[in-house]
Amino acid sequence: MNYKKTNTYKSFLKSKYLSLKLSNYFHIYDEIFSKYKNKKITFVEIGIFSGGSLFMWRNFFGKKAKIIGIDLNPETKKFEKYGFKIFIGDQSSEDFWKKFFSKTGKVDVVLDDGGHTNYQQIITTNCCIPNIKDNGTLAVEDVHTSFIKNKWYNPSKYSYVNYTKKLIDDINSRYPGLKKHDYSLNKYIYSIKSYESIISYNINRKLCKTNILIRNNGKSTEPKEFRAQLDRNSLLFKIKKFFNTKSNFTYFVFLINSVKSMKFFR
Ligand SMILES: C[S@@+](CC[C@H](N)C(=O)[O-])C[C@H]1O[C@@H](n2cnc3c(N)ncnc32)[C@H](O)[C@@H]1O
Repeated sequence: MNYKKTNTYKSFLKSKYLSLKLSNYFHIYDEIFSKYKNKKITFVEIGIFSGGSLFMWRNFFGKKAKIIGIDLNPETKKFEKYGFKIFIGDQSSEDFWKKFFSKTGKVDVVLDDGGHTNYQQIITTNCCIPNIKDNGTLAVEDVHTSFIKNKWYNPSKYSYVNYTKKLIDDINSRYPGLKKHDYSLNKYIYSIKSYESIISYNINRKLCKTNILIRNNGKSTEPKEFRAQLDRNSLLFKIKKFFNTKSNFTYFVFLINSVKSMKFFR
C-alpha cells in the first residue's frame, strides 16, 4: 500500500509547521497507533524540532488526546501557546525522567524521535517503560543509528538494537523452568515488534504472567512423536537404516546445517 493513503501521512500533510519523517514510518504509525485514535490518551513525543509533528499527532489522535513534547531546545517551549504541554530536558538523564513522570503520572504512548544515540535510546527505554500504562506503547525511531558510524553514532555491542535483543532474551526467560533473568523491564513488556528503523514495545503487566501448559478435554489419538525424526528420503535416514542404529544423528544434522548457514552470520 502506498504510504500516501495512510491516516498518519494525511495528518502529517495538514501540519502547519515542518516535520521530517521517513516514508516507511507512516504504515508503522497507522499499525501501532490507530487503536488510540479519538481516545482520551496521553501521548508523548521526544524531539520537537520545528514543531510539525506536534500538530500532526493532534490531528491524528483527535481532540481528546493530550499531546506532550520534550526537547533539549528551550525555544520549543513556544508551542505551549497552541495547547501542547512542553518539557525542556535531556532524554539521557534519569533525573529528568523522574521529574517528568512525577508531574505527568503514567502515560499511554511514548514516541522517541530525539537524538537517536544508543545511550539516549537505552536510558529513555529504561525510564519510560515502567511509566507506561497497560496496553500502552513505546516506539523508538531511527534505530538504524545502531549501525551507523559518524560523529554522533557508533555501532558497538552496546548498541540500542543489541540492547533490544537482550530484552527479547528476558521475555523468553519467563518460560517456566528456564533460568529467570532478573531484569526489571521483564514484568512490563508483553511483546516487542522490530521493523526497519523502528522498534515498538507493547506494555502490559497483566499479560506478563507465568506460562502454564493446559490441555482441553479432547481424546488423544496417541500420535507418534515426530519432532526429532529424520526425513525418510534423507541421506542420514538411509545411514541410520544401514547401520541399524538408534541414533538420529541429530547432532550431525545440526552441525551440517550450522556450517551451511554460516553465510548468514557475517
Ligand atoms: C529529529 S528532530 C525531531 C523531529 C520531530 N519529531 C518531527 O517529526 O518533526 C530531533 C529533536 O530532538 C531534540 N533532541 C536531541 N537530543 C535530545 C536530548 N538528549 N533530549 C531531548 N531532545 C533532544 C533536538 O533538539 C531536535 O529538536
